[in-house]
Amino acid sequence: MTSPLDRLADLRRRAELGGGEARLKRQREAGKLTARERMEALFDPGTFEELDKLVTHRCLDFGMQEQLVPGDGVVSGHGRVNGRPVFAFAQDFTVFGGSLSETNAAKICKVMDLAVRMGAPIVGLNDSGGARIQEGVMSLAGYADIFLRNTLASGVVPQISAIMGPCAGGAVYSPAITDFNIMVKQTSYMFVTGPEVIKTVTHEDVTKEELGGAMTHNERSGVAHFAAEDDRECLALIRELLGFLPSNNLDEPPRADASDPVNREAPALDALVPESPYQPYDMLDLVHAVADDGYFLEVHRHFAQNLIVGFARMGGRSVGVVANQPAHLAGTLDIDASVKGARFVRFCDAFNIPLVVLEDVPGFLPGTVQEFGGIIRHGAKLLYAFAEATVPKVTVITRKAYGGAYCVMASKHIRADFNFAWPTAEIAVMGPEGAVNILYRRELDAAPDAPSRRTVKTAEFRETFANPFVAASRGFVDEVIAPRDTRRKIISALEASATKRDTNPPKKHGNIPL
Ligand code: HXC
Repeated sequence: MTSPLDRLADLRRRAELGGGEARLKRQREAGKLTARERMEALFDPGTFEELDKLVTHRCLDFGMQEQLVPGDGVVSGHGRVNGRPVFAFAQDFTVFGGSLSETNAAKICKVMDLAVRMGAPIVGLNDSGGARIQEGVMSLAGYADIFLRNTLASGVVPQISAIMGPCAGGAVYSPAITDFNIMVKQTSYMFVTGPEVIKTVTHEDVTKEELGGAMTHNERSGVAHFAAEDDRECLALIRELLGFLPSNNLDEPPRADASDPVNREAPALDALVPESPYQPYDMLDLVHAVADDGYFLEVHRHFAQNLIVGFARMGGRSVGVVANQPAHLAGTLDIDASVKGARFVRFCDAFNIPLVVLEDVPGFLPGTVQEFGGIIRHGAKLLYAFAEATVPKVTVITRKAYGGAYCVMASKHIRADFNFAWPTAEIAVMGPEGAVNILYRRELDAAPDAPSRRTVKTAEFRETFANPFVAASRGFVDEVIAPRDTRRKIISALEASATKRDTNPPKKHGNIPL
């Protein structure tokens, strides 16, 4: 007779074998780690504790009772990342293609419930053929159970999804609700309907990679926030990202030891803004110059590059940076940039991460594509997000702050706490050329010396309005600062905001223009 210990050892061995040697080999040959290897790489060494390793499915149809694999296609549990507790699940593609069954959904729900109860982040490693076909509606119910938990956990604990294989059909909506999606290049794809269905319905020819590969979702759709070269890079990135985040919405973000002096000057910044207002420069130079050790984890790097968002540390504190990028589309706000920025701002606000806004924005992008696409509605998201945010907000205007975009980008009027401007700032309803065209069009049309008069009027307008001093005289800008002092000024503002308490009126929830 088998002893209980031997029986346990046998069950564990079977669980660890997943779908068997041949399928594990196929997984590795596809350039992917196995579900357990992924968990080991995600957590601090030796800290992963597996739960529900012996769970099996309950499906009696299609000969399924002969195919019982302990664990049932998902590895779940908890461990530590950088010493802090994190809950996670990893779908095991070697067991029924990682497909979601009633029982494996229950395992995922269990770790999600534990994560919320403990106030710890949830990480989902997705690699699955979707709903387990043999289980029909039980599998669909499992998905809905997960979607509900994703929704209820949103804004309570950080949720991170990695797409490390297929993720198709309704299954995409769990990652879509989570805060960050990381896709692995070449081995992952996400789509609601695959190439075959598309061919039938719309007669379009498209490959899986084109339709839903890592770069498609990083560059075009914005569904993914990061692209990793391989599984190990993906898992390292999750660890790094978690290092900037609090464990839950009642927690403070982790503080790092800051060896970079808080009052470090950056003299090169004095020459960052070119003399010509039409010339671009790279706002990332400013981000790197003010961040601790020049380090910046850019989020959504490939998407809507006219707006930069990401995490840095300043004086050891995590901050969310939102910055216009004059080197791309002149830093205008378009639909994609507005949506990208709004979601990032709301994440930071939900998780007590102060916002640092670096502003050089000539306005919203003009054109029929933008207007027909709903720039009014989408631009409003960014405005709404900044306005409702109660975390510390520190804004630095480096150059242009024109029109509505001035109001949107964490202006004093929508509750920014500290607003600075460089001497090169231009805070106006619009640029000097546009203003002169509107104000003096008739006069200039009739004038024989129109070009030189236009130049004079433009210079006059620039002198009067395109500077930070009118705003500073009103207190809309708290201080005009030397560019080289920007790091010290931001950190000192963040220190002054450390005890900030601000609230919004009581309500069930607001109605952000979605
Ligand atoms: C059960 C599945 C499965 C599934 C794959 N397998 N998907 N078993 N249910 N959904 C099994 C296969 O039978 C196979 O078993 C093993 O997993 C590996 O699959 P392969 O096809 O050999 O792998 P590959 O060639 O890499 O192709 C992967 C794949 C393909 C593209 C994911 O398997 C596929 O198209 N699967 C079906 C996808 C799908 O339509 N799912 C339902 C989507 S709708 P063996 O024994 O041979 O190893 C959906 C609704 C969710 O998910 C709704 C939420 C609201």
